[in-house]
Amino acid sequence: MSSEPYYGPDYGLLLRQDPEMAEVLLAELERLRGGLQLIASENFASPAVLAALGSVLTDKYAEGYPGRRYYSGCEVVDRAERLAIDRARRLFGAEHVNVQPHSGTSANLAAYAALLRPGDVVLAMALPHGGHLTHGSRVNFSGRWFDVVAYGVRRDTETIDYDEVRDLALRHRPKMIICGATSYPRTIDFAAFRGIADEVGAWLLADVAHTVGLMAGGAVPSAVPYADVVTFTTHKALRGPRGGGIMCTEELAARIDRAVFPFTQGGPLMNAVAAKAVAFGEALRPEFADYTRRVVENARVLADALAAEGMRPVSGGTDNHLALVDLRGIAPSGAVAEQRCADAGITLNRNAIPYDPEPPTVTSGVRVGTPCVTTQGMGTEEMKEIASLVARTVRAPDAVGEVRERVRELATAYPAYPS
Ligand SMILES: Cc1ncc(COP(=O)(O)O)c(C=O)c1O
Repeated sequence: MSSEPYYGPDYGLLLRQDPEMAEVLLAELERLRGGLQLIASENFASPAVLAALGSVLTDKYAEGYPGRRYYSGCEVVDRAERLAIDRARRLFGAEHVNVQPHSGTSANLAAYAALLRPGDVVLAMALPHGGHLTHGSRVNFSGRWFDVVAYGVRRDTETIDYDEVRDLALRHRPKMIICGATSYPRTIDFAAFRGIADEVGAWLLADVAHTVGLMAGGAVPSAVPYADVVTFTTHKALRGPRGGGIMCTEELAARIDRAVFPFTQGGPLMNAVAAKAVAFGEALRPEFADYTRRVVENARVLADALAAEGMRPVSGGTDNHLALVDLRGIAPSGAVAEQRCADAGITLNRNAIPYDPEPPTVTSGVRVGTPCVTTQGMGTEEMKEIASLVARTVRAPDAVGEVRERVRELATAYPAYPS
């Protein structure tokens, strides 16, 4: 018998009982440790976050909210949810926080449900210009159930055209305006959006799924003082478990809570709620502010170094954790560049650039982000080298073998998780 207290996760047990799946877990760890992860929406959750995720809290049904559940035996998980809420409120200065959404998409579904009726007009950023599927795509509930008008970026600056947003708002009188994006490298002017929303009497939803971690560390401006509702994810720059959340004013608290449960979700994933609390706790520490500052600095250096290699960053650079790179004249397409980089152990994603002549499955660009490599401890010198490795791979597929070797050395020098 082991003298260690039992709390749940036990890799040795999984290996004995289900070696096939145990091997999958190890293979993924090896993949992460053997290459460079430049997907802007990914990060490495800390071992403490993983411990909470793999705990017996997954067993508990807790429909409802702390102190008002539809099941008994919730007194312990109530503590987990209260911790998550209190820490998030402290981190962001929000009046009200709901930590139950299973994902960013679930958070947005609940925000729509709280504020709108099917058929209402919504003004949001166009998907091909950096918006998200949940901001009005026809293949998503948002585009099917609401009348979505899209704004984009200017052709010359490739930044949001606030005059266009205002003109569209005055013309279409949306019930809700959405700001926030999935591949937009520049600072979003939340105050300007607030002004436009006030002028037309619309709700303002800020979807900060991508930048909430940077917001937590103070590396980008916060949407909380400006938006009526702020939706977010916890697994990107914030470095928590896969999941979502919603912040809002006290006035909207009850509507948001009812929209999450019982309207769009059932029982919360209490292990994920506990892991969110752990991540918020980590983000409250001063080291996290420093981490977010380094994420942004690394992204800026990476974008500049890619530009020096002839790979043009959309809008000329970045203010956050990601850059969007126009590969026209460098590679046949974003899809080809994505595959060549994958062959060299560099994981990034093809991405449409504004006014892209290619279809979304092909694209003319790729998106790169620095949350993962910064978590690994890499700095500006490594970003310059990564830019040169990406450029060599994208330009000359023959260089893949040599680049793969150097990628492996870099990844080994900065391991993704402790060995
Ligand atoms: C702006 C934005 N909103 C929502 C989401 C959806 O998050 P999830 O994948 O957790 O549903 C994403 C995901 O990338 C996003 O970028």
